Amino acid sequence: MAEEERHDRLSRRGLIIGSAAAAGGLVVGAAGGAGAAVSIHAARESTGGAGGDGDEEVVDLTTQHAFYGSAEQAGIRTPPQRYCVYMTFDLSSTLAGDLQVLLARWSGAIAQLMKGKSIGQVEPARADGVALDTGEALDLGPAGLTVTVGLGPKVFGDEFGLAERKPALMRELKALPSDALDPALTGGDLSLQACAEDPQVAYHAIRDLARMAKGTAATRWTVMGFGRASAGKGQTTPRNLMGYKDGTRNIRDDDEYRKFVWVDDDGPAWTQGGTYQVVRKIQMNIENWDADRVSDQNRVIGRDKSEGAPLSGTKEFDTPDFTATASDGSPKIAPTAHIALAAHENNGGLKILRRSYNYTDGLNQYGLLDAGLLFLSYQNDPAHFETLQARLGASDLLNEYISHIGSAIFFVPPAPREGHYLAEGLFA
Ligand code: HEM
Repeated sequence: MAEEERHDRLSRRGLIIGSAAAAGGLVVGAAGGAGAAVSIHAARESTGGAGGDGDEEVVDLTTQHAFYGSAEQAGIRTPPQRYCVYMTFDLSSTLAGDLQVLLARWSGAIAQLMKGKSIGQVEPARADGVALDTGEALDLGPAGLTVTVGLGPKVFGDEFGLAERKPALMRELKALPSDALDPALTGGDLSLQACAEDPQVAYHAIRDLARMAKGTAATRWTVMGFGRASAGKGQTTPRNLMGYKDGTRNIRDDDEYRKFVWVDDDGPAWTQGGTYQVVRKIQMNIENWDADRVSDQNRVIGRDKSEGAPLSGTKEFDTPDFTATASDGSPKIAPTAHIALAAHENNGGLKILRRSYNYTDGLNQYGLLDAGLLFLSYQNDPAHFETLQARLGASDLLNEYISHIGSAIFFVPPAPREGHYLAEGLFA
């Protein structure tokens, strides 16, 4: 679906600030009111070292994605942007009409925000007027913003009278091995995933949408994500906070999206083309991980750190061979290595779309780094996530270094057509 308008470009690998010549230079142009272009030119600086393979990755702050459409919402198949602010909400109203109005108002606002526009006056004409838009994204441009809306299990419970139109497979997630869930970081009736190339643009979107929800829904938990830990089609693979490339083997092709991501079942018509979002806040025991020898870290993941190659191969995109053995007869990839337990070859062909981000909450009460992975996955059946996490939670070598502390599930309806709003068919 992506409708990009490309103008000026910012290289992710190196930013040289100098004269505004095409070969390098930074120019910030801010004229022209809401949505004015931020123009950045930059030259690539090849690192030459690990990961410095000379590929240029372009970040375009004027990129716009369309909110309206005939297929899925933006922010799922969209090549992952660099930042994400994720928030869940509890519904404070039990009236279906209130939810309907909120989804209609959110739809209109998100369409504006994704164009890089404000959602109302920043400086009202009346001296005692309260601003409709909080203003911190003025002049920052669209920055590739996408806002993806999800509906939690309670929306389809008895309270709202909407149970008849429940997505066929919607339910709470099962309890899973190794769950260490904190109720304050778990659940929610609505979710917003705002991703953008500028963190302030993503934050502004969430802040202003949360403001609009007042009276109908209240914030529950939130995570600020950075350094996308997944790769879309044509993107280089980023690294998670464990230092490993994340997203090497992920869903990329249309066929796989059809088979594993988009809902196409006997459920209600309005749910077709939607998907289920699973979110997990996964804390990393960073100090312990950093104290481990790299050879053991490689064994835990099943890949090497610099190249990201499976331990049975030499290049990042080599297909892992889970039967390969070393000269002493031991498997090259341990059967309980993360990739061995998660790979489709060992799970009856099962795949999920991962679209995760790194996060940090600063320091914990002991002065240790408090950080991890905001794991986000999309699948057309929540059981697919459960199948993988049941295996990982039971025996993944990674478990020594991580804890799943937050969790939620949402149904993500398809995008509305122009003139309509999200999940309109739910209220028909
Ligand atoms: C902090 C937690 C996690 C970390 C650090 C992590 C890290 C990684 C890394 C480094 C890879 C290899 C590169 C790649 O193919 O993308 C990978 C692969 C994968 N991970 Fe995770 N992961 C985490 C949690 C999870 C969870 C919760 C699931 C699903 C329940 C999952 C499912 C997968 C899958 C399906 C693959 C691809 C395996 C393959 O086909 O080879 N991961 N992960």
